[in-house]
Amino acid sequence: MFREKLLTTLIWSAVPIAGAMLADYAITILLLHAWQSYTPLITLSVAIVVSLPVCYALVSGRIELRHARDALSAARDTAVGANQMKTLFFANMSHELRTPLNAIIGFSELLALDAFTAKRREYADLIHSSGTHLLGLVNDLLDLARIEAGKFELRAESVSLEELIGECARTVEVRARESGIGLMRRVAPELPYALADRRALKQILLNLLTNAIKFTRRDGTVEMFARLTSSGELVFGVKDDGIGIADEDQARVFERFGQGRHDVAGADEGTGLGLPIVKGLIEAHGGRVSLESRLGEGTCVTVTLPRDRLVLPLKDIALAS
Ligand SMILES: Nc1ncnc2c1ncn2[C@@H]1O[C@H](COP(=O)(O)OP(=O)(O)OP(=O)(O)O)[C@@H](O)[C@H]1O
Ligand SMILES: [Mg+2]
Repeated sequence: MFREKLLTTLIWSAVPIAGAMLADYAITILLLHAWQSYTPLITLSVAIVVSLPVCYALVSGRIELRHARDALSAARDTAVGANQMKTLFFANMSHELRTPLNAIIGFSELLALDAFTAKRREYADLIHSSGTHLLGLVNDLLDLARIEAGKFELRAESVSLEELIGECARTVEVRARESGIGLMRRVAPELPYALADRRALKQILLNLLTNAIKFTRRDGTVEMFARLTSSGELVFGVKDDGIGIADEDQARVFERFGQGRHDVAGADEGTGLGLPIVKGLIEAHGGRVSLESRLGEGTCVTVTLPRDRLVLPLKDIALAS
């Protein structure tokens, strides 16, 4: 900023200095006709001494005013953006909450009518599934709010990814079978344990797995993997040969409520909170998530844990000592 002020001061000072020199020239040569007493150096020195500080004060005043104005308009843009995000958030939320709530209210009213006794069981099931959906949504929102506020508390313990992958595979097994999708596991042998929050890693894996199953057509394959990279980081994730994500949607899917195309049966069931939660949870561990996808060919989401989050399994520590 000082260089800018100095340069502008020099440019602006040149004008009064040149003016003073011209006036001096006119007075000395044209009016007094005294060639010998022409003293341009004295005028130049006086002009410089007077012009420089005056110009500097004027220029720095203007520049500071300009900076203050720019900062103010940037702050206003941020505030307007945040307000728009909040409005969008509430619009999305109201929409997401209204659908299951309407089902709960509607079917419970039908339950109360004697005319529908034969359908009681079916209505009770519908109310239950809408309630479960609502609870899942509220839990996702709470998780995301906690992550974004930096209030997510990591409870680090040593976690075997091999075990965790097995556990998650069993959780989604039935859903995958019903959708006609083959589930595979590719876990490198002798993997170190992760020093991480077990619940968070499980949520990451389940979010990725449910996406992969949801966005893969019948007879497709979903693979869960875990391995060490050549630089010693632990990576894990889920790969599928499903519908893929268009290039232009790939950044948006990590934003809240950001969704891509949904031309596969059942894909509409979702809010667009799964991947932002994955990103927030892994970043809370100092890790990162990346996505590779080609439309119509499949998607691979890879989660990377940094090297300082790796620990040897207890049996290996015992063997080494
Ligand atoms: N494996 C995948 N294959 C194709 N598209 C995917 C895949 N995973 C995510 N996407 C795209 O990214 C979007 C965002 O995923 P995200 O998990 O955040 O939300 P969602 O699955 O739509 O809803 P939610 O997870 O909240 O139930 C999805 O709607 C989908 O368009
Ligand atoms: Mg999802």
